[in-house]
Amino acid sequence: MSGERPIGVIGVGWVGLVTATCFAELGHQVIAMDIDAKKIRSLNRRKVPIHEPGIDQLLERNAERLTFTTEMEDVLESARLLFCCVDTPPTYSGDADLSRVQAVVGQLADNGDHALIMKSTVPSGTGRAIRRDASDVAYVSCPEFLKEGTAVNDFLHPDRVVIGADAGAEWAADEVEAIYRPLGGEMVRTDVASAEMIKLAANAFLATKISFINEIANVCEEVGADVTEVARGMGLDKRIGPSFLRAGVGYGGSCFPKDVSALKQLAGNTGYHFQLLTAVIEVNELQKRRVIGKLQKHLGALAGKTIALLGLAFKPDTDDIREASSLVLAARLQGEGAKVRGYDPVAEGPAGKLLPTVELSGSAEEALDGAHAAVLVTEWPEFAELDWASMRDRMATPLVVDGRNFLDPKSLRDAGFAYEGIGLTSSDAQAGESAAEAESAEARSR
Ligand SMILES: NC(=O)c1ccc[n+]([C@@H]2O[C@H](COP(=O)([O-])OP(=O)(O)OC[C@H]3O[C@@H](n4cnc5c(N)ncnc54)[C@H](O)[C@@H]3O)[C@@H](O)[C@H]2O)c1
Repeated sequence: MSGERPIGVIGVGWVGLVTATCFAELGHQVIAMDIDAKKIRSLNRRKVPIHEPGIDQLLERNAERLTFTTEMEDVLESARLLFCCVDTPPTYSGDADLSRVQAVVGQLADNGDHALIMKSTVPSGTGRAIRRDASDVAYVSCPEFLKEGTAVNDFLHPDRVVIGADAGAEWAADEVEAIYRPLGGEMVRTDVASAEMIKLAANAFLATKISFINEIANVCEEVGADVTEVARGMGLDKRIGPSFLRAGVGYGGSCFPKDVSALKQLAGNTGYHFQLLTAVIEVNELQKRRVIGKLQKHLGALAGKTIALLGLAFKPDTDDIREASSLVLAARLQGEGAKVRGYDPVAEGPAGKLLPTVELSGSAEEALDGAHAAVLVTEWPEFAELDWASMRDRMATPLVVDGRNFLDPKSLRDAGFAYEGIGLTSSDAQAGESAAEAESAEARSR
């Protein structure tokens, strides 16, 4: 593809860095820009500033096709297609904060030569507003569906590629389609507003599935059913499918919470009350409170108790803790007067910034030392491989609340733990209790 103009990527976070390195992998020259000078310095030293499997190799393999800069002029001078990958965090009201997108649009030369390809997640109607403000720039919506932890694979093997363009921007949409075509995903060519809506609706649907199975889990606890069995039986129905049916402490991360509330707000701004999403959000918040209830059931008041959070990232294989369940749990536990420790295999750096009042441990063993309970928040494989029998002796109380139904209840029970999962049969939850009951009672009085 030499001789072609390089592809511009603006914003080099999870989406931007994966986009830039994967386009380079496809043989394109790429110029990637970010306002974060530290990030760009790191990338120019070929050091990946995030934890995302596979990016190091892509960066190394395609180094000669990748340029990183902090200067927008460098990008505008050389690239014609500009893939916008800046962050769109939530505002206090729950709307998407589009200030970074607007900052990018404000820098575009109004000369009709450039096309802005929006990969950031934006509310439906954003494209229309941008075209009003920057009428000479061709605008294409191309939302991103990658998942952190498997982002490179997701990008290179998409289920579908959504490309939304309105009249006048078809040339740019055709070029975007040509770039993605070798990846083999189904092409969904549509208008801009529909493309924007596809992304928000997809995330809202997945979040709904999670809140749905969590409510089923809560009912399972009441009726003595096992949610993992229920989910398996449900998921084998092709109309339902098995994914996103794992009960737990609820969804978190940098996308679901903000995208669900952005869609709810978007609907509300038009005068439509999106009742279902209101419930999805509420169920997700309440789900974290159930962990506190499970701890109190065994320990009584949590004031003065030490609780160890195992896993701080919002999911395994990432060091991203934005909007992670660990943040909510730590705050609630501290609100109850508990002392909170945390351990994560890779997220210690970000945790130091976002969880300043949590005592960070260098290992799971260290976090569990003298703790009254372990709460598994992120299903990192190393937690399943822990020598739980020896952890029992380290802890003040042998109590595990498994927020992801990730550990084996039987082996924990055999090791003398009280084990609480989410929506599991009461026999699993109760079997370990007798062994730990005496110590739990003692702990209550400590
Ligand atoms: N992270 C995901 O899993 C994921 C998946 C799909 C879609 N998205 C969406 O993609 C967008 C980006 O998400 P992310 O997780 O990569 O965000 P991120 O915070 O990791 O990265 C955003 C980057 O944009 C940079 N930036 C901000 N303003 C800029 C500007 N004016 N010019 C240049 N760079 C600028 C920031 O410095 C940062 O490096 C969001 O809208 C998000 O909702 C994210």
